[in-house]
Amino acid sequence: MKFGHFDDEHREYVIETPKTPLPWINYLGSKEFFSLISNTCGGYTFYKDAKLLRLTRYRYNDVPMDINGKYFYIKDGDCVWNPGWKPTQTELDEYECRHGIGYSKFKGVKKGVRAEVLTFVPVNDNCEVSKLVVTNDSSEEKNISIFSYVEWCLWNADDDSRNFQRNFSTGEVEVKGSAIYHKTEYRERRNHYAVYSVNAPIAAFDTARDSFLGLYHYAGDPEAVMNGKLTNSMASGWSPIAAHQLDVTLKPGESKSYVFVLAYIENPVEDKWESHNVINKKPAEALLSKYDTDAKVDAAFAELNAQWDKLLNIYTVDSSNDKVNRMVNIWNQYQCMVTFNMSRSASYYESGIGRGMGFRDSCQDLLGFVHLIPDRARERIIDIASTQFEDGRAYHQYQPLTKKGNSDIGSGFGDDPLWLIAGTSAYIRETGDATILDEMVPFDNDMSVAQPLMEHLRRSFGYVDTHRGPHNLPLIGRADWNDCLNLNCHSTQPGESFQTFGPSEGPVAESVFIGGMFVKYGNEYADLCDLKGLNEEAAKVRASVEEMNKILLDSNAGWDGEWFVRAYDSYGNKVGSKDCEEGKIYIEPQGFCVLAGVGKETGEAEKALDSVKKHLDTKYGVMILQPAYTVYHEELGEVSSYPPGYKENAGIFCHNNPWVSIAETVIGRGDRAFEVYKKTCPAYTEEISEIHRTEPYIYCQMVAGADAKFHGEGKNSWLTGTAAWTFVNISQYILGVYPTLKGLSVDPCVPADFGDFNVKRVYRGVEYDITVKQNGVQKGVKELIVDGAKVEGTVIPYDASKKTVKVEVVMG
Ligand code: BGC
Ligand code: NOJ
Repeated sequence: MKFGHFDDEHREYVIETPKTPLPWINYLGSKEFFSLISNTCGGYTFYKDAKLLRLTRYRYNDVPMDINGKYFYIKDGDCVWNPGWKPTQTELDEYECRHGIGYSKFKGVKKGVRAEVLTFVPVNDNCEVSKLVVTNDSSEEKNISIFSYVEWCLWNADDDSRNFQRNFSTGEVEVKGSAIYHKTEYRERRNHYAVYSVNAPIAAFDTARDSFLGLYHYAGDPEAVMNGKLTNSMASGWSPIAAHQLDVTLKPGESKSYVFVLAYIENPVEDKWESHNVINKKPAEALLSKYDTDAKVDAAFAELNAQWDKLLNIYTVDSSNDKVNRMVNIWNQYQCMVTFNMSRSASYYESGIGRGMGFRDSCQDLLGFVHLIPDRARERIIDIASTQFEDGRAYHQYQPLTKKGNSDIGSGFGDDPLWLIAGTSAYIRETGDATILDEMVPFDNDMSVAQPLMEHLRRSFGYVDTHRGPHNLPLIGRADWNDCLNLNCHSTQPGESFQTFGPSEGPVAESVFIGGMFVKYGNEYADLCDLKGLNEEAAKVRASVEEMNKILLDSNAGWDGEWFVRAYDSYGNKVGSKDCEEGKIYIEPQGFCVLAGVGKETGEAEKALDSVKKHLDTKYGVMILQPAYTVYHEELGEVSSYPPGYKENAGIFCHNNPWVSIAETVIGRGDRAFEVYKKTCPAYTEEISEIHRTEPYIYCQMVAGADAKFHGEGKNSWLTGTAAWTFVNISQYILGVYPTLKGLSVDPCVPADFGDFNVKRVYRGVEYDITVKQNGVQKGVKELIVDGAKVEGTVIPYDASKKTVKVEVVMG
C-alpha cells in the first residue's frame, strides 16, 4: 500500500495523506543552516551543529507523534486548522505534501480557503524561507487570521532538555516591527541570535509560550489562537517562542502571499549592541530584506533548483527500469548529500545531542558524495584525519562545530583507521588530486605534531597491520563496523554503555571482517603508494595483504567451510561459525571479503555468497546474522542485547546489503546482485509502505528481520551508510562506471534482462556519454570504443583536453 507517489519530473515525492505510518521527513539546507521538516510541518532547525546551536525545539519520544515544528494556523470563524494538518489535526478537505530536493511544499484546503506553503533554505544564507499563499476559493469574502508559531531552543539542545533550574530563568527576546528576536544568553557569552519575521505588518504577536498556548494547553489548541487574538507577550525566562498574527481579508478568488524568514545571525563581538542591552539588528535586517518580496523568494528558489540540476547532472542513467533511473538520478544521490552533511547527528531517530560526526560513518558517506562536491569532501577528509591519534587509532566521533574528537566516546574501534584510506582513495580516484596526500594534517587536532595526510594513511594501515591476535587476524578493539560486537566489554550491569564500558583493547578478540577491509583498503593504499612513487612501501603493503588473504581463507582462521567466520571472542572462541549455537553466520565478512576479491579464484567467494542466500535471505533483504541470539551473551556484548530480529541481532541492516550485492558483481552474478539491490530499494519498497513504514524515497538503517514480530518494518531512516554504499553499488558496480586512479572504468554487472542503457558522467571536467549494449549478458566487456577508437580493457584513458567523450561498450 502506498501513501503517495513519485513525481520524477519535479524530483518530488508527493504525500497524499498526513497520516503516514511514521513521520516522513525531508532535509532543508546543504551547507551550514539546516532544518528537518516532516510531512505535517514538524521538525527543527539548527546552525552547523544540531547539539550546540539549535534554533528551535523538538520533542522526541512524545505523544502525539512528531511534536513541534514551524506551524501556521488558520482561523476561519470557529474553525482553526493547519495546512500540514498538525498540530490541531483538524481534518482537511484537501492535503498534499511534496518533499523535493532541498525544499518541501504543503497544500491544505479547508472550507474554501487554500493555504500553500513552500519552505526551503536558500543556497547562500543562514535562514529558512517559507512562502505562505492563502487563496479564497469560495464565493464569499473571507476574514481569516493567520498565526505563525515556533518554539525557541536555548541553543545547546542537550542543556535545553535537562538544565531546567537555569533554563526557566534565562529566556530573553526583543520585538521590532514584525521581527521577533531570540537573544537568550546574548547578554553574556554568545554573539549570535535568531530571528523570525514576516514581510507584512502584524496585528499582534506572542513571545511567551504560556501566553500563546495558555496554561495546560498545547500546540494543538493554543488559547490565544482559539481566542483569535495574540497577547503581545514579552518572554521573561520560561519558554520563549515566536508567534505572529496576520488578519487577512480575502475576496472570492483572491490570493495573498506572505514570506516568513527564520534566520541565524552572528555579530562581531565588538559590534554586538545597538545600545545598552539592545542587540545589533543590522545584519538581520539586511538578510530579511533579501527575502521580503515574492519575486526575491522565487529567484532564491530557482537558484536552489539550478544548483541541484547541476549536481544531479554529474551522474545520470537512462535505462528501461524507471525505478533504477529514479533512485540513481534523484533520491539516492540526494540522500548521499544529506548523510554527508549530517553524518549520524540529526534525524527523527538521532536526537542531534548524542552523536556528532562519526569517523567511520563520515569516511563511508564520502564514497557516495565525493563526485558531487569534491572540494567539500577534501575538507572533510582533512577534518576527519585531524582527529586521528599519532599511533593510527582515531576518535570515533567528533563535534561538527568544534571539529574536535569526542572524548566521551573515545577510541579503540578496530576498523576506524582503514576507513580513512577508503575515503581518501575515493577522493583521489574521483578527482585525480593527489596533492591532498601532501597536506599537513594534525594528530588529535594538535598542529605541532602534524604530518602529511599520506603519513596518516601509513599509520592507519600500520595500526591494523601491527595489532593482530592469536590467528594473526586484526584485533577488534571496542568493536568493528558492527558496533554491537563488543568482544572485550563483558558488561553485566544495566546502564553500562556497550560503546564505552570495559577495555577498549584486548589481545585476543579478532575480527575477520577487518581482515576483509585490510585486503580491500590495503590494496587501495598500495595503489596510492605507487602513485606517490613509494614502491617499496607498496610492495610491503601488498605482501601483508597477500598474507591476510591467506589467513582469511585458512580453515584454522578466517574460513569456516561454507562461509567466512565473523570473529574470535576474547576467549579465542569462534563467532559466526557452524560451531556456534546461535549466530552461526554473519553477513559482514561474506560481503566484504568477497568484494575485496578474497576467494574469488579459489571458489570460497561463491560458496560464501551462496551461504548468504541460503541462510540470511528474506523477501525484505538480507539479515545480518542467523540464527538470532535468544539469550544475552556477555562475551559478545550489545549484539545479543536486542530482541531477535532487531538491529544488529538478526535485523536486515541495510548498510551491508550493498556489500553483498557488490560482492555478487565481483563474481559476475548480475541477476543476484540486482535481486539484492531491489529488496531494500525504496522505489521498490514503496509498494509495501504500510509494512515498511519509513519514507519510501530514501533508505532506512534497519528493517526488522525474520525473527521479529514486525518483520519488514523499517527504522532509523535517512542517516545511514546505506545511502553511500548503495549509490556506489548501483552506479559503480551494477551499472559499472567506476573511477580508478587512471580514469573511468566501465564494467557493468547487470541482470540478464536489464537491457541497453546510457550513463552520462561528468568526471574530472570531462563529460562522458556512455552507451552500453548489454546483449543479455550479466558481466563482461567485449568491446570498448572511445570516440570511435577501440580501446583494450575497461578503462577509458583520461584526456583532459577533451570536453566530451563518446563511449560505446559492448558486453559479451
Ligand atoms: C546501535 C548501533 C550503533 C551504536 C552506536 C548501538 O546501540 O545498535 O547501530 O552504531 O549503538 O551508537
Ligand atoms: C550505526 C553506526 O552509525 C555505524 O557506525 C555502525 O557501523 C552501524 N550502526 C552498525 O553497528
